[in-house]
Parts: sequence; C-alpha cells; structure tokens
Amino acid sequence: MNTTVLDVQHVSHRYGTNQVLEDISFQLHHGEMMGLVGPNGSGKSTLLKVILGVLPLQQGKIEWFGQPLGKFHDWPKIGYVSQKANSFNSGFPATVEEVVTMGLTGRLGLLHRPGKKEKERVHEAIATVGMSEFTSRNIGRLSGGQQQRVFIARSLVSDPDVLILDEPTVGVDAHSEAQFYELLRNLNEEKQISMILVSHDLGAVSTKMNTIACLNHRIHFHGNPEEFERMRPEILLRSYGHDVHVLHHDH
Ligand SMILES: Nc1ncnc2c1ncn2[C@@H]1O[C@H](COP(=O)(O)OP(=O)(O)OP(=O)(O)O)[C@@H](O)[C@H]1O
Ligand SMILES: [Mg+2]
Repeated sequence: MNTTVLDVQHVSHRYGTNQVLEDISFQLHHGEMMGLVGPNGSGKSTLLKVILGVLPLQQGKIEWFGQPLGKFHDWPKIGYVSQKANSFNSGFPATVEEVVTMGLTGRLGLLHRPGKKEKERVHEAIATVGMSEFTSRNIGRLSGGQQQRVFIARSLVSDPDVLILDEPTVGVDAHSEAQFYELLRNLNEEKQISMILVSHDLGAVSTKMNTIACLNHRIHFHGNPEEFERMRPEILLRSYGHDVHVLHHDH
C-alpha cells in the first residue's frame, strides 16, 4: 500500500518579509507515521497550518487525497491538535463531553444536535484516551496533560484518516506519554491512520515514527529512522546549525 495521502510541492511561506518556509516538498503516504522535528522558530507549526488551510497557501501546491487544497472539503477526515491546545482556564464553560462533541460539528453541521450514535462515538473517543471518569468534568478543571488527552479525543471523534499533532505530549508525564505513543501505534495498526507528529524528543520520534523530516525553514532531511540515526550528527548540524559560526573564530 503506497497511496499518497498528502502531497506538498514547492511550498514557501512568509510573514511580511520574514521568509519562514522555503521550497518545502514531501509526501505523506497511507499508514505512514511521520515525525517532524526542528529547532524553535523553524516553521513546523506554520507548515502544519499551511497544509491544513488555516494559513493561506502563498506559493506552491498542496493536495489532500489527490485533491488540490482549495477544492478539498473533507476536513473531518483530518484530525488536528494544535500546539498549546490545552490552554482553557478554569472558567471555560464546557465539559469534557461537550469539548469532544465539538469534534463532530464538521460532520453534524452546527445546528444539528448529536443523536444516540454520535454520543456513543464521543464516549468511545473519551474512553480511547482513558478519560471516561472525567466525562462530565469541566474542561478548565483538568490538568494540562489531561486537557491534552481531551483534545486528542476531540480529534479522534470524527474517525479521521489522518492525525496532525503539534507537540501533543508537552506537559504530559512519562507514563502518560508512553500510553499516548501506544495509543498512536494502535490507531495506526488497527485503523491505518497516517500521522504527522511534531516533537522535540528526537529519541521518541526515531523509535516511534516510521519516517522523520528535519525542518529549519527548508527540509534538511526526510527518511527512515535508520538513516536518521546513521546520519544524526550531520543532520543536526545541517538543520539545527550548531557551531557553524565557530569555524570563523580567530583563535
Ligand atoms: N502569526 C505570525 N505572524 C508573524 N510571524 C509569525 C507568526 N507565527 C509564527 N511566526 C514566526 O515564524 C517563525 C516560525 O514559527 P513557527 O511557530 O512555525 O515555528 P515552530 O517551528 O513551530 O517553533 P516551536 O518549536 O517553537 O513551536 C518564527 O520566527 C515565528 O516568530
Ligand atoms: Mg510550533
């Protein structure tokens, strides 16, 4: 199986005069789990927002399931958990159940109330992330890591074919993090969900994902974990650029 889910070709993006993405090309294939790494400010979140149509496509070409971005409307197929999604304060007036139900609005339409089937789906998604006992709890009264799980449930409830996760395990403890990667692996194995996961944890990415892309405004590497480990020092120098300036030092 080697169907292309996402095709990104020659994408560039700038904020004003600040060129953040330069000539980015890659493909995500059916069932692929791609780790996206790169230093702070390298353009990872921007790249995700461009491929999701949250930011306008300024230059280049993007296709989801063979359809140009502008003509693609099947967004419930794609689950997205943005960076710092877990920033609800204690006053936010919604329960876990309600927040997860919001993940269905793409399918239901805003005015349609969820029926029995939809409610079942919501409860199933909450159970998948191990949050059943908190179903009626106000979202603001959960810890950051627990909120993060609720957002993952929200992205799962529309039964997506693809998950786009921007640093989903920040603020999550080691045990929950291990469970989270286990969950991703199950979703990948049982439902062949493809993923792009942004993380600063190079170790986790190279053991849990099946391809890795290193971004620093450009893609400096895209390959499998074996190649990544073999070339790691060179890749890091290229994409993170440490000690490049040392070469010009006088002494
Ligand atoms: N809305 C915006 N307007 C202007 N500049 C922005 C905006 N969002 C991001 N930037 C700039 O674009 C660059 C890339 O930001 P981006 O958030 O994509 O990086 P990142 O790789 O996700 O970083 P991090 O690892 O810190 O999350 C940074 O220099 C940032 O300051
Ligand atoms: Mg980011």
